[in-house]
Amino acid sequence: MPKFKEPDRDCDRCPRLRSFLLDLRESHPDYFNAPVPSFGDPEPKLLVIGLAPGMHGANRTGRPFTGDWAGDLLYKALAEYGFSNGKYDSRIDDGLKLKDTMITNVVRCLPPQNKPVGAEAAACRPFLTDQIASMPSLKALMTLGKISHDSTVRALGLKLKDYPFGHHKDYNIQNDIKLYSSYHCSRYNTNTKRLTEEMFFEVFADIRRYLDNVQH
Ligand code: URA
Repeated sequence: MPKFKEPDRDCDRCPRLRSFLLDLRESHPDYFNAPVPSFGDPEPKLLVIGLAPGMHGANRTGRPFTGDWAGDLLYKALAEYGFSNGKYDSRIDDGLKLKDTMITNVVRCLPPQNKPVGAEAAACRPFLTDQIASMPSLKALMTLGKISHDSTVRALGLKLKDYPFGHHKDYNIQNDIKLYSSYHCSRYNTNTKRLTEEMFFEVFADIRRYLDNVQH
């Protein structure tokens, strides 16, 4: 059992997201339609922090990034750099296990049009703050996209002006913990070539090198 608190199934911190999920429980009763819990190693060295569940991905399956395009690329990268065991198959019962890694989202509920508003990121932030603080094994955080990056910087109690977002930037944030940022591995970003597989993998390669060399 994780030592940190995840939002309850009926979390009502964000009225807009709550009412969206309640409607979806009617229209898509076979979908998860609730805050999506973090997935992975309970004592991770790396925490990967996405934006929010996708409608037919995590919101359907109940596991972050599982079932949509962004997940195909993220789970491919995790396998490539030795952060998983087993084969990802876009189903929650694929038997995949993450190694030294956990995946979560800055906003745990599906937002309309995949766009959480600032108040929703703020309302969900205490869960991330608590999660990071409760994991002494952590050595690296990887944020996917600017919203994830900025919300994570705030969750750490740091100032955005000191830690501006950029693809493939990294910062020392505390003790031996590093913050790595990447463009989000969304279909839009990969279709427009803002993010290529190679660019994404280069960030993972750096994280792998860092984790292999840092003291544990
Ligand atoms: N699925 C998630 O769980 N998070 C994202 O940021 C995108 C897709």
